[in-house]
Amino acid sequence: MTVMGAGVRVLGIETSCDETAAAVVEDGRFVHSSVVSSQVDLHARFGGVVPELAGRAHVEMLDDVVAQALLEAGLEFHEIDAVAAAHGPGLAGALLVGVSAAKAIALATDRPYIGVNHLEAHLCAAWLEDPALEPPFAALIASGGHTMVVLVAAPTRHRLLGQTVDDAAGEAFDKVARLLGLGYPGGPAIERVARDGDPTAIAFPRPMLNDGFEFSFSGLKTAVAIYVRAHPDADVADVAASFQEAAVDVLVTKLFAAADAGGVDTVVIGGGVAANTRLRDRVSEVAGATGRRALLPPRVHCTDNAAMIAATGWWRLVYDGPTPLDAGADPNLRLGA
Ligand code: KG4
Ligand code: ZN
Repeated sequence: MTVMGAGVRVLGIETSCDETAAAVVEDGRFVHSSVVSSQVDLHARFGGVVPELAGRAHVEMLDDVVAQALLEAGLEFHEIDAVAAAHGPGLAGALLVGVSAAKAIALATDRPYIGVNHLEAHLCAAWLEDPALEPPFAALIASGGHTMVVLVAAPTRHRLLGQTVDDAAGEAFDKVARLLGLGYPGGPAIERVARDGDPTAIAFPRPMLNDGFEFSFSGLKTAVAIYVRAHPDADVADVAASFQEAAVDVLVTKLFAAADAGGVDTVVIGGGVAANTRLRDRVSEVAGATGRRALLPPRVHCTDNAAMIAATGWWRLVYDGPTPLDAGADPNLRLGA
């Protein structure tokens, strides 16, 4: 495609959940800086994200995080060409902090503002890994709040094939980690403990495995809870590894079913769960076995970050132009909206 606006540097801001992040990305693909300040320690003692605390912490942290992103990029405010912020989906109060800051910076510097869909941003992270990536491809987005398979025709043009009907994959990791006493956030904790476990030890269910493109993780979580109650002395590593294997099995099967349905030979993963090593290994394996290419963005671009927001801001600016300053944030924003 012809790239309009080459050399455009976008400042991206991400505050949709519990990471306060800012980044500068050029032309949607080249990262000048990416700063992520995690609130994990703040929320850990509550076993999950507390929305009120998240919003307040974003207010406290954002100025410093933006300043750091500019410093690391070696740029001043006036050298930024556009400002993007995640405007949904996410926690209402948390989103508003980033959106308001981005609008204020855009207004003060007389630059366009772009509101970015956080889910689309998880998809667009793929171009940070491979600037020459050519759609179409099939993508899996698996995060703490969402799990879906999508066919991507262009960075901002995609078709949702199916999503979870109950819990998100990341949510299942978090809940299972809690019931195994592994703490928060659960994904990395399960992955760590699972390394010493046998993934075939317990045959947990693979809900809706070959049943279309919808996912269901709440039954899997319940199966783990029932197992642990019935086997209080079960080896935690085996439980974690067996749960992880079941979850990964479903995610990988649906991703490649999406690739089959779309007749595409490239698959991409995104979202926090895409940082999972077992998932990454399985996606690579199946891609190899089926003659496909697997594009696995580095872990820091899978979990929440602002580089993906800045990148998506550029693509949206190129395709659709800026977002009006009176547009708000939408906690329930859907992909494609
Ligand atoms: O995309 P993300 O950073 O935030 C949301 O948009 O939700 O995803 C966070 C989710 C959490 O549920 C977390 O437990 C999960 O991603 N996660 C992982 C791993 N790292 C983060 N799940 C499995 N394995 C991991 N290594
Ligand atoms: Zn996310």
